[in-house]
Amino acid sequence: MSELHNTVLKILEKGKGILAADESTGTMTKRLDDVNVPSTSENRLLFRETLFSSSSMTDCIGGVILYDETIKQETSKKIKIPELISRMKSAPGIKVDTGAKVLAGSPEEKITEGLDGLRERLKEYYKLGAKFTKWRGVYSITKNFPSKLSIQSNAHALARYSALVQECRMVPIVEPEVLMDGEHSAEECYEKTSEVIKKCFEELILHKVDLKGIILKPNMILAGNKSKNIIKNEEVAKLTLKCLKNSVPSEVPGIAFLSGGQSEIQATENLNLINKYNDTDFIMSYSFGRALQQSALKFWSKNIRDIEGTQKVFNHRAKMNTLAAQSKWSKDLEV
Ligand code: G3H
Repeated sequence: MSELHNTVLKILEKGKGILAADESTGTMTKRLDDVNVPSTSENRLLFRETLFSSSSMTDCIGGVILYDETIKQETSKKIKIPELISRMKSAPGIKVDTGAKVLAGSPEEKITEGLDGLRERLKEYYKLGAKFTKWRGVYSITKNFPSKLSIQSNAHALARYSALVQECRMVPIVEPEVLMDGEHSAEECYEKTSEVIKKCFEELILHKVDLKGIILKPNMILAGNKSKNIIKNEEVAKLTLKCLKNSVPSEVPGIAFLSGGQSEIQATENLNLINKYNDTDFIMSYSFGRALQQSALKFWSKNIRDIEGTQKVFNHRAKMNTLAAQSKWSKDLEV
């Protein structure tokens, strides 16, 4: 088995998932503003360090995606953050794109940047202990979008990124996120997501990326958040599985969903149902940001020195999602 394939299986073993703690300083500032905590580098570190030293890191979290600021920080006990994560038996990862910018030629849409100098940055992150990386392409659904241009150019960037990451002996998380914002139906989300994912694999194959050594991080198939035609969770799970079965090559070992603005419980429940109906060989787990951190952040913001209390809230969420990744979750476990 290749080193990269092994890394994927280790990250996603036994229902483990990924904690996406890679919010850029701008996004983290918004999250902290929402709970009235000043966004200083000390506070960002304190919250993250609290999560990374929780017991669920060993039992439930196979990998943590970090932001550039965090991977270079040390804890209050002078332990480097990647070292702390490794000691908890989890794998440190790093977001390496530099964000979504206006796409020339289709200025209503976005193209993710960060390829310039990427090989050199990857070498640095590898030395800092990163075992895997993340790059996110983003697509909106409206009457005319996503355009062929955005689908093609984001897939191309994701593939060039993935090839460079594997060259540097790390696992690339390939994240094409079709956003939940809008009035679109679940069927439209299904169609557009299928088109986006198929194009990504066309490019990944062209760039000779080893598909056994990647993790796909897609959105679930949902109706837009302003849609009048909301569908049942069972339907979300079935459409999501149908989409992935038809667009993801069977060599891909693992799929870890983003939560994309769903509530914590909704994301867990949908993940549980996806696993209940999963008749594929894909491991179906989570790589959640908001759906893992929201309650913990809320609690922490009011009890900033209560490390144990914050960890208790986080441990619960991580455990629920790890159960859902094995279709062992039920609503009564939430109380
Ligand atoms: O790129 C997006 C994050 O890694 C996942 O965040 O689960 O809050 O959508 P989310």
